[in-house]
Amino acid sequence: MRARPCFSEEPSASAAARLVVRQAGLVIKACWPAPERNKQAILEVLARALPASGTLLEVASGTGQHAAYFARHLPGLTYLPTDIDAENLASIAEWVREARLPNLLAPRALDVTWPDWHIGSVDAIFNANLLHIAPWECAIALFAGVRRHITAAGVVVLYGPYRIAGAHTAPSNASFDASLRERDPRFGVRDLEAVAELAEGAGLRLTERVQMPANNQTLVFARGV
Ligand SMILES: C[S@@+](CC[C@H](N)C(=O)[O-])C[C@H]1O[C@@H](n2cnc3c(N)ncnc32)[C@H](O)[C@@H]1O
Repeated sequence: MRARPCFSEEPSASAAARLVVRQAGLVIKACWPAPERNKQAILEVLARALPASGTLLEVASGTGQHAAYFARHLPGLTYLPTDIDAENLASIAEWVREARLPNLLAPRALDVTWPDWHIGSVDAIFNANLLHIAPWECAIALFAGVRRHITAAGVVVLYGPYRIAGAHTAPSNASFDASLRERDPRFGVRDLEAVAELAEGAGLRLTERVQMPANNQTLVFARGV
């Protein structure tokens, strides 16, 4: 099943402006406030959790802001940004072009629900903010892809809001969850334990959970530690 592409809760341009730009055939290099705010805190986890070299696949890269920032600060990794959405892919391509980094690859289309991601094997997989703005089938598909594509020593890092022990970690997350479910009943803030169970099915254990600003979490999954 193909999930609908989603948009950040804080897009830089209104839907009408995006339409005008698209009709004019221009490429939007989007810049959302949220990735600007969270990129440094996420980088600090990535820098210690990821292998020093190899290929890092980013799933659902959004605008490309994270890709440009992380690739610049993790020069030992070859960074492959991906997304399901054509507009996002165009924006990512602009960030990649402007960054001029030898380790930052051109973006590729990737829908996590594809039975084959056509990327070979990768040493690390990173995703921010997909699981709650997509049907649960996307979480299942994400870890099915992890199982197929990650190397034996591979690491997976996920960033986003999670419920822990059946409870939201903040009232604002509960409101966000309600708004997501109103938008689409298949969406919603996920239970950390349910995500960890999917990871275990892919042979990975939750090895680190980092409390992040704005009531988000970064989860690190690795094999056999
Ligand atoms: C809330 S945005 C997060 C973007 C970015 N990771 C960030 O944190 O700023 C969710 C992203 O998931 C992508 N997406 C939605 N469904 C997807 C799917 N089935 N496979 C891959 N990406 C998907 C959207 O196109 C969008 O870029």
